[in-house]
Amino acid sequence: MDFDHLWAELAPVGRDPDSGGYHRHAWNAADAEARAWFTDAARARDLDVRTDRNGNLWAWWGEPAPGAVATGSHLDSVPDGGAFDGPLGVASALAAVDVLRERGLTPDRPLALAVFVEEEGGRFGVPCLGIRLTAGEIDPDRVRALTDADGTTWAEAMARAGLDPAALGPDPHTLGLLDAFVELHVEQGRHLADTPHAVAAASTVWPHGRWRLDLTGRADHAGTTRLEDRADPMLPFARTVLAARESAAAHDARATVGKVRAVPNGTNAIASRVSGWLDARAADRSTLEAVVAGVRGEAERSAAEHGVELRVAQESDTPVVEFPHALRDRVAAVLERRAPEPGVPVLPTGAGHDAAVLAAHVPTAMLYVRNPTGVSHSPHEWADPEDCHVGVTALADVLQDLLER
Ligand code: GLV
Ligand code: MN
Ligand code: MN
Ligand code: MN
Repeated sequence: MDFDHLWAELAPVGRDPDSGGYHRHAWNAADAEARAWFTDAARARDLDVRTDRNGNLWAWWGEPAPGAVATGSHLDSVPDGGAFDGPLGVASALAAVDVLRERGLTPDRPLALAVFVEEEGGRFGVPCLGIRLTAGEIDPDRVRALTDADGTTWAEAMARAGLDPAALGPDPHTLGLLDAFVELHVEQGRHLADTPHAVAAASTVWPHGRWRLDLTGRADHAGTTRLEDRADPMLPFARTVLAARESAAAHDARATVGKVRAVPNGTNAIASRVSGWLDARAADRSTLEAVVAGVRGEAERSAAEHGVELRVAQESDTPVVEFPHALRDRVAAVLERRAPEPGVPVLPTGAGHDAAVLAAHVPTAMLYVRNPTGVSHSPHEWADPEDCHVGVTALADVLQDLLER
C-alpha cells in the first residue's frame, strides 16, 4: 500500500505556510496542482483518467461499463481548511487500488475513482457544484454566472483552467454506469474519538442550506453622526448573528454565520451595507425551517428597528439523506470482520458530502475515519496515520466485496 507516499506528495499542495491550512478552491492554482497530482498518480497505476463535462475527474480501472463501482471524494477545501476533508478519500481510493492489486484481484466489474469539483463551495458559494452539475441538480447557466469574491465568474475561471464552460450539464450516462458509490471521509465530530473503532459507516446526512442576508443602510461619519440619525446595518447584523445561535440552541440544531462582508469596511465610517451568510442544519426539514424562520424573524425585526433594508436569498439547499440500508448494512458487515470489537458505529452527520448528492441517483455509502479531536474545516483537523491505514484497508475490503458480488 502506497498511502504514506501519496499523502506525502499531496499534503503540501496549497498549504499556507503560516496557518498550516489549505486554500484549494475550484480552478485556482492549488486546485490545478492537486488535480495534476491525482491524474499522475492514477496514470502511474494504469488507470484511464477522463474529465467529465463539469471538470470532475474519473479514473477507470477497466473499461467504463454498466455495473461499475466507484469511490472518491474532493480535493478542494474550505478557506484555510484542513488536510483531510476530501483529500483523505481521494488518496485512500488510490491506495485501495494498490491493496486490491496486491491481493491479486482482477475485477470483472470496472472500478472508477472520482474527484468532484468544488465540494465545499469555498470560492463560488454553492457546495457540491461538480456533482450537482453531473447529477442534473443545478442549472448550468446559474453555475456559469456564479462569482467569487473578486467578481470572477465560474465560466471565466473554468476557461482559464483550460476547460470549456459551455459544456456544463448533466451526465446521466456516467452515473448510469454506477451500481454503487462509496466515499471514505475523515469524521468531523468526536463520535469515534473515545471508541476502539478507527472506522465507521454512515447512516444519514442532516438537511442543510445556505442563505445570504444583505442589510443595506446609509454610510456616514463615525464621529459626527448622532446615534438617532444613523441607519447602521451592523446593528441588525449583530442581532441576526445572536439570533442564529439562539434559534439553533432552541431547536437542538446548528446555525452559523462564518462569512461576512462589510462595505466600505472602514473603521471611521458607518457601513452602508453588511452581507452575512447563514449556514443552518438540523436533523429534519421542519426543524431546519423553524431554525431559519427564527433567524429571519429577528433579522426583519431588527432591520426595521434600525431603518435598514433586508434582503434574504437562499443560495443552496440539501435535503436529508438516508443512505440505503441494504448497502450500509453490507458495508457495516464488511467493517465488522476486522473491527477491534463488535459493534461498528453507524453515524449520522451534519456535514455535507458529494456522496449525499449522489445518493439520490446511485446506491451510496460512506466510511468515516476517526478524528481524535473532532475538529474539522480548520488547519487543526487530524487523523492518525495508523487510522488512515485502517481506513484504506477497510475501503479496499468494501470495494472488493462490491466488485466480487
Ligand atoms: C461541507 O463539508 C459542509 O458540510 O459544509
Ligand atoms: Mn468539508
Ligand atoms: Mn468533505
Ligand atoms: Mn463536505
